[in-house]
Amino acid sequence: MIKKPSYPTKVYLNGEILAAEQAKISVFDRGFIFGDGVYEVMACIRGRFFHKQAHMDRLKRSMSAIGIQADLEELEASIPGLLQATGLNGKDCLLYIQVTRGVAPRQHSYPDGIQPTLMMYAWPKILPDHNPEPVPVVIREDFRWHRCDIKMTSLLGNVMANQFAMEQDCYETLFERGGVITEASHCNVFFVKEGEVYTHPADQNILDGITRQVVMELCEKHQFKIHLRGIAPGDVFDMDEAFLTGTSTQITPINIIDGRELHPYKQGPVTQKLQQAFLRLKGR
Ligand code: PDD
Repeated sequence: MIKKPSYPTKVYLNGEILAAEQAKISVFDRGFIFGDGVYEVMACIRGRFFHKQAHMDRLKRSMSAIGIQADLEELEASIPGLLQATGLNGKDCLLYIQVTRGVAPRQHSYPDGIQPTLMMYAWPKILPDHNPEPVPVVIREDFRWHRCDIKMTSLLGNVMANQFAMEQDCYETLFERGGVITEASHCNVFFVKEGEVYTHPADQNILDGITRQVVMELCEKHQFKIHLRGIAPGDVFDMDEAFLTGTSTQITPINIIDGRELHPYKQGPVTQKLQQAFLRLKGR
């Protein structure tokens, strides 16, 4: 039986840890009105965050890209207290952090000196050691904007793409832009051919995933040559393996693309090797 997601019991909001029902923001918050904000999701495994610094650095880069200035020191210092309050101390969970521009009368451009809204919460999540089951995906034209490198909360394009995948009993939609596959709605994508690995370069067409970066380091360590190049949808069936990467997706093999089987095995040998190496990094 699939467990229904439940709400976290505690929320950090602008310096306070509150019962979730008490955590309220103004309807004039630009995050609500315009999706004017950025976010992060990171995994905590038995009380230890996986590449926390890289996530916090990316959050600061996203804030700087859209001109939000906020000191995150207090928020970061409040993470242990939030985990404690949520009953997740030393446990496996995911942490969501969101920073929006703050409250202001509705106008596209924003006034100086508004106070950003800082919010975060955590919820229990035990990620599998590795994801043995391959997933089906579909390919769709990327109809999102041209700054996919910013991890922003305005995710309507990603939401529509993932819903499109779900409605076809698929896990993900791979985006195609400029004749190549860029990324997926909430993951990055890799292909393998003759033991060499291909992934789209980290430009403005993709979010440079922390998991993607870790996997690239693992490829180097295992001497799998990496090509920073997007694969054309017409070439995917010439590939030996394909997999997705992301914080909650970890490394998940792809077996079916647009209803056609990519390869007959569950995980290709390169995917499997990377999964094993990834598992060791997580300290399992
Ligand atoms: N998604 N590409 C997109 C569009 C993403 O939204 C994500 C992450 C990734 C992978 O990034 P990372 O490896 O740092 O998680 C790639 C998060 C988890 C989410 O929106 O829930």
